[in-house]
Amino acid sequence: PLFLQREGKKNIDHFGFLENGLFKQRYLLSDQHWRQNGPILFYTGNEGDITWFCNNTGFTWDVAEEMGAMLVFAEHRYYGESLPFGEESYSNAKYLNYLTSEQALADFAVLIKSLKASVTGAQNSPVIAVGGSYGGMLAAWLRMKYPSVVTGALAASAPIWQFTDMVPCGDFYKIVTQDFAKSGINCSKSIRRSWMAISNVSSTGEGLQWLSEEFGLCAPLKPQDVDDFRAWLQETWVNLAMVDYPYEANFLQHLPRWPVKVVCTHLQFDSGVTDRQLLHGVSQAVKVYYNYTGSAVCLNMSETATGSLGTRGWYYQACTEMVMPMCTDGIQDMFEPQSWSLQAFSDECYGLFGVRPREHWASMAYGGKKINSHSNIIFSNGDLDPWKSGGVTKSLSDSLVAIVIPDGAHHLDLRYSNEHDPQSVIQARALELQHIKQWIKQEQV
Ligand SMILES: *[C@@H]1O[C@H](CO)[C@@H](O)[C@H](O)[C@H]1NC(C)=O
Ligand SMILES: *[C@@H]1O[C@H](CO)[C@@H](O)[C@H](O)[C@H]1NC(C)=O
Ligand SMILES: *[C@@H]1O[C@H](CO)[C@@H](O)[C@H](O)[C@H]1NC(C)=O
Ligand SMILES: *[C@@H]1O[C@H](CO)[C@@H](O)[C@H](O)[C@H]1NC(C)=O
Ligand SMILES: *[C@@H]1O[C@H](CO)[C@@H](O)[C@H](O)[C@H]1NC(C)=O
Repeated sequence: PLFLQREGKKNIDHFGFLENGLFKQRYLLSDQHWRQNGPILFYTGNEGDITWFCNNTGFTWDVAEEMGAMLVFAEHRYYGESLPFGEESYSNAKYLNYLTSEQALADFAVLIKSLKASVTGAQNSPVIAVGGSYGGMLAAWLRMKYPSVVTGALAASAPIWQFTDMVPCGDFYKIVTQDFAKSGINCSKSIRRSWMAISNVSSTGEGLQWLSEEFGLCAPLKPQDVDDFRAWLQETWVNLAMVDYPYEANFLQHLPRWPVKVVCTHLQFDSGVTDRQLLHGVSQAVKVYYNYTGSAVCLNMSETATGSLGTRGWYYQACTEMVMPMCTDGIQDMFEPQSWSLQAFSDECYGLFGVRPREHWASMAYGGKKINSHSNIIFSNGDLDPWKSGGVTKSLSDSLVAIVIPDGAHHLDLRYSNEHDPQSVIQARALELQHIKQWIKQEQV
């Protein structure tokens, strides 16, 4: 994609008057297909480098010409190059204090206002917010909080209800499990059994060494690393479910088409399998995720996805406003039973950042389940995507529209069209476009 990279000054604190510093927010702009007064598709950047989201949001590039649209991708503060306190931004809780969704939304609203004021012919351009995942939550919230700034929003795979007391904490991992269960014979069963096999094998020094070599780990496992090893595998299965796309793609990692099916070919065991045979299968399976290109020298348990994501910043956000309870029971899902403990989470947050979560704030600030009075938002979700658990999957009104994509993983609809796209995503995109064009038309009357 061809775009201009720009930056604009924003207040570090939009909501108080004591800290009056400014910071540089990066955004990307393409007016290649834009016609004067034509719409602006505004991507509300999420937790990472904006050029990476731009590269993975082909839908906007696919429709720009037909819509005569300008494309803007705005970077979220504290990610990529938009660091309010430069290299020091993450150095202490005082500097991190301005990393909130409210501040990010205000940055976006101010940027839209200033673009419309400064670009000739954009004064009357309707703006549609577009985003995926946390970016999708921001797109929906931007429409809710700043209805005079954006005409509507396409919120793809946006788990706006993944907060405390809004959805069952086990749903997320249930969906992960269902993906594996339907992608190969005995696949989820083998993963469920692997946890005990790990306990068995890791109980001896020789077993630990075997595991480390079998998985090609960069650093040999010590007895105290076994919990991290399990957590790493669990995260790997989650990521695979999220990016179970119908074609070869490179989002979190470079992967083959329908990667979960490929993974499952290594996990077709019956109950007579030995612990080491089973774990050999697991190692082959995770290498589909970490070594599809064959270029991994060793597997680093600290690197589970692309470096373009701002993992630490997102963890801080989860530790403050974005508290998303998750749990497993080992029965309806393929993981080891683990209940949700706010106390344990809060203590971990305090240790890491010196802050504690406010678990009910997000539902207070953004309306919880009572959002029916808003308008012009599309909530799209894929049945394969674990984040569907916190998504809006039933329409709430004529203009709060839910679209479910049966063969879709995490915001598949926002990606470039592809010859392997299933009919369901082709239809979803057409419907999305139809709603967006209707909102624009209503605005221009
Ligand atoms: C985005 O795509 C461009 C052009 O293909 C590439 O140069 C750049 O490295 C990509 N950025 C990221 C963060 O992946
Ligand atoms: C682990 O060890 C126990 C006790 O020896 C055994 O019953 C079990 O089959 C082993 N493997 C798994 C996957 O449970
Ligand atoms: C799946 O597991 C069951 C129960 O252990 C076994 O009977 C069956 O042969 C397995 N299927 C395959 C394809 O391994
Ligand atoms: C990754 O794949 C290549 C090519 O098959 C292989 O040589 C290498 O050992 C693999 N890396 C790991 C960590 O298994
Ligand atoms: C593993 O990744 C972390 C985080 O990127 C890095 O600091 C560390 O050096 C890596 N370890 C190895 C052995 O490559």
